[in-house]
Amino acid sequence: MSQQLWMERQKAFTGPPQLTETTTTANSRKTMARRSRTKTKLFFLLISLIAFLAFVPVAPLPSFSSHYSLSHRHRHQHRKVVTSTVAVKPGSFEIDDDKFWKDGEHFRIIGGDLHYFRVLPQYWEDRLVRAKALGLNTIQTYVPWNLHEPQPGKLVFEGIADLVSFLKLCHKLDILVMLRPGPYICGEWDFGGFPAWLLAIEPPLKLRSSDSAYLRLVDNWWGILLPKVTPFLYNNGGPIIMVQIENEFGSYGDDKAYLHHLVELARGHLGDEIILYTTDGGDRENLEKGTIRGDAVFSTVDFTTGSNPWPIFKLQKEFNAPGKSPPLCSEFYTGWLTHWGEKNAKTDADFTASALEQILSRNGSAVLYMVHGGTNFGFYNGANTGVDESDYKPDITSYDYDAPISESGDVENAKFNALRRVIGLHTAASLPSVPSNNGKMGYGPIQLQKTAFLFDLLDNINPADVVESENPLSMESVGQMFGFLLYISEYTPKDDKSVLLIPEVHDRAQVFTLCHSKENSRRPTHVGSIDRLSSKTLGLPNAKCASNISLFVLVENQGRVNYGSYIFDKKGILSSVFLDGRILHGWKMIPIPFHNLNEVPKINAIIQVALSRSITVSTQTGLKDKSGNVSEVPAFFTGHFFIENADQIQDTFISFSGWGKGIAVVNDFNIGRYWPSFGPQCNLYVPAPILRHGENVLVILEMDYPSPELVIHSVDHPDFTCGSSKSK
Ligand SMILES: *[C@@H]1O[C@H](CO)[C@@H](O)[C@H](O)[C@H]1NC(C)=O
Ligand SMILES: *[C@@H]1O[C@H](CO)[C@@H](O)[C@H](O)[C@H]1NC(C)=O
Ligand SMILES: *[C@@H]1O[C@H](CO)[C@@H](O)[C@H](O)[C@H]1NC(C)=O
Repeated sequence: MSQQLWMERQKAFTGPPQLTETTTTANSRKTMARRSRTKTKLFFLLISLIAFLAFVPVAPLPSFSSHYSLSHRHRHQHRKVVTSTVAVKPGSFEIDDDKFWKDGEHFRIIGGDLHYFRVLPQYWEDRLVRAKALGLNTIQTYVPWNLHEPQPGKLVFEGIADLVSFLKLCHKLDILVMLRPGPYICGEWDFGGFPAWLLAIEPPLKLRSSDSAYLRLVDNWWGILLPKVTPFLYNNGGPIIMVQIENEFGSYGDDKAYLHHLVELARGHLGDEIILYTTDGGDRENLEKGTIRGDAVFSTVDFTTGSNPWPIFKLQKEFNAPGKSPPLCSEFYTGWLTHWGEKNAKTDADFTASALEQILSRNGSAVLYMVHGGTNFGFYNGANTGVDESDYKPDITSYDYDAPISESGDVENAKFNALRRVIGLHTAASLPSVPSNNGKMGYGPIQLQKTAFLFDLLDNINPADVVESENPLSMESVGQMFGFLLYISEYTPKDDKSVLLIPEVHDRAQVFTLCHSKENSRRPTHVGSIDRLSSKTLGLPNAKCASNISLFVLVENQGRVNYGSYIFDKKGILSSVFLDGRILHGWKMIPIPFHNLNEVPKINAIIQVALSRSITVSTQTGLKDKSGNVSEVPAFFTGHFFIENADQIQDTFISFSGWGKGIAVVNDFNIGRYWPSFGPQCNLYVPAPILRHGENVLVILEMDYPSPELVIHSVDHPDFTCGSSKSK
């Protein structure tokens, strides 16, 4: 989802050209006879018969029904009937006559994206049930390689990364799945789902291409992933009806050898029956570059809600074999993403619903992106760039996306109602009833205490974790993928002011100095910031220091670019560092990673120390002494709040109003980044499953400035009205 797409969409809102186009009417049943495939002729014959009987509700239906009544889960029973009477595979999902056919019956996909990795597992069922109540029959999800293989060879498929349990749950709830295993997924997710350790490989990999070194790693990853999902393919009795190859590849490159490699790899693991598909922006150039023409892969399109869908579906046909192009918009945008510093993205409910109506009213299929966005917990948010690489825009922590099911699962809203009404018009069966919103609680003010100044914790660092090098190394080269990296060097002071130059730093560097010979100064002083967006230079004050001065550069990784040509987004200091024009040599690097989503152990050593200091601040006097302008941040602040009864454990939101910028951890779960001074997000979502009866602990790392009263509020609602974006 690019700036380009964003701009197209904005244009679309100002007045979509309402093209008219004649319908290509399909003649449904006659073409059943046109099918000809040698291998499975008998099967199709039988399926056709079943389909025919389904269209003509006569004799066999009662016998199906009687089986249903014996069964607690009729879908299984249905399969059993089919299997036992005609001896075919458990399920068939196919394309013919420009339609989808599920077990021989005409099928229309009304789907939605819901990413298991953006929702706590305890809430998967809650959200899926709401998606069903909206009228959806299919869930589309990406699979983020970086969550599942955080370090080379270290595989994670537990907790929020438990894809197999998610698939089982979809199956239990009778929801079909469109799986998007990447390897690149875009999705406003760090590095488009690529593990950041790919960036440390030398010589550099050519990602998303047929570079053999890259392909070997993809072969290995899919070799682990795809066998796990194979039992869940529809033709093997599971919920997965289609598997996507790459993601909007046409907007990135045109390396067909790469796409063919992925197709062969997928076929090798998944077999020949499952439908493979590509998704590309709905214009000729994207489709030319991103699709594989012919029968092997089904080409689908995505486009803005302002576009007239039918000319695009007509174009889609050109990239599919005759009869193999059911109209499918595989990303139908129900809302949009938001970057820090922007106004919160909102789209009109009725406009969105009428755009969907245009697709459904002519038997098109659509997948809502998103039906439920969820949250970028931890450090996994992605980022975009403008035309210039330095125009860097990280995504906010919330991935609410203005979707019909809100970040906290709310469905009582205009968009949910409008979309459900349209879907209901085009669904034969009546839709499941809509669950009410989940309860939310505000637990009131939480008094925080400063528990540790970040630099005070450096004494606790294991010397083995300190990396030394003549020149600064990137985060990835140091082996740390997320969080902060502290760079330390030293210089001899001059009589006049010095100028520090860091030509390339990703993404934000806070600079501190410390004169050891000065009395009273055991703590570095903040002298300013350098970041990717603005200035590269910083004047260092004349410190009148008798000894060398230590230079501390604390670099924050704010999320890797996930879209476009600048995805090669290493973090940390990526160039030499110059002091008055001369290169500074001799660096120590101290990783300050914190735990990220789903990481074990859950408590990082540094947070452990911050917690253990919850009563005393060792150098309290130093903090109060303003004369030397000693830095008060970055520092840890800790607070406690109590939940009296187990039945009061409900979702809450933590408001960071009045605070600067940082990260927050609730009961050892990293709930993400806050930056209310920049906005628009003021409150972070805290799902109930991470809360507990009794005492709950909130630890934050504040980078810029604490609120004067050191108070944070737990409230019962989201808020996207903070920061500089308020006035926009
Ligand atoms: C949509 O599909 C149904 C069932 O196959 C068919 O009866 C109807 O004519 C189709 N409508 C359009 C507009 O193609
Ligand atoms: C002071 O820093 C310089 C590097 O700028 C280094 O060469 C020198 O050895 C340091 N002096 C002491 C006393 O550590
Ligand atoms: C302390 O900071 C203030 C404002 O930030 C500045 O005006 C003052 O000169 C600083 N004092 C010292 C000793 O650096």
